[in-house]
Amino acid sequence: MSDDPGFVEYAVEGALATITFNRPTRKNAFTAAMYEQFRAALLEAEHDATIRCTLLTGVGGAFSAGNDLHDFLDNPPTGGDSAVFRLIRTLGFTEKPLVAAVDGPAVGIGATMLLHCDLVVASTRSRFAFPFVNLGLTPECGSSLLLPRVAGLQRASELLLLGEPFDVDTAVAAGFVNRIVTPEEVLSTARELATRIAERPPTAVQAAKRLIRDPIRRQLDGVLQDEGVTFVTRLGSTECGEAIEAFFARKR
Ligand code: COA
Repeated sequence: MSDDPGFVEYAVEGALATITFNRPTRKNAFTAAMYEQFRAALLEAEHDATIRCTLLTGVGGAFSAGNDLHDFLDNPPTGGDSAVFRLIRTLGFTEKPLVAAVDGPAVGIGATMLLHCDLVVASTRSRFAFPFVNLGLTPECGSSLLLPRVAGLQRASELLLLGEPFDVDTAVAAGFVNRIVTPEEVLSTARELATRIAERPPTAVQAAKRLIRDPIRRQLDGVLQDEGVTFVTRLGSTECGEAIEAFFARKR
């Protein structure tokens, strides 16, 4: 059903690895195969001693529209071994620094993955959403733990319980975007920051990341398990099926 499979590119330049989401006709929405490719790319960077920082970006004026909604109907994740949950686990425990360059929509896991990035640069035209409840779903990718932590309880509740789209100023105020630049500058600014991180003593950088993330990661395992079970249950609900049908019906 995912007519356009898309792919995830991995490129290395010096000490910098770049992972690019490349499925522009679907706003870089993720299929199961793309989660596998993304995970493989993260692990490649993690295990390559010459890589000191990894940059995440998307093509075509989009970061990512999240999980492919056709896949949610036709090829849904069923448990911890499913591609999406394997990717989330790898992302959540990455030791090397991650920098994201966001332009255009960052929705669903396209937004929640930013909470695992160490620096996020976003363009003025970026639009974010955690639309889970509107799809009859629940927060994933550790966002039920991480978003309250960075945004505060009330603000996180507003973003997760209303699930409405919001702009880059709101994302900065919510604490998960570091810099706002023009669409033309987003990749170069993110690359420049990633290069500066890569120039720092790598062992110190990774130790610092571990110290920053470890208090959260001590809870992350259990949260990911709970989120995963709830999400899979919700995927099988009538609420979810109807909401996804409604998304595709709006075009017909
Ligand atoms: N899964 C499958 N297809 C998707 C998709 C997704 N997550 N997101 C977008 N697409 C498809 C659209 O159906 C459309 O296909 P079409 O050209 O055959 O009609 C194409 O990608 C372009 O999307 P469109 O909605 O026209 O772009 P937009 O700029 O108006 O809006 C978004 C972009 C991301 C805001 C909007 O597409 C959207 O809300 N997508 C769903 C996001 C979502 O709910 N993700 C799952 C979260 S759990």
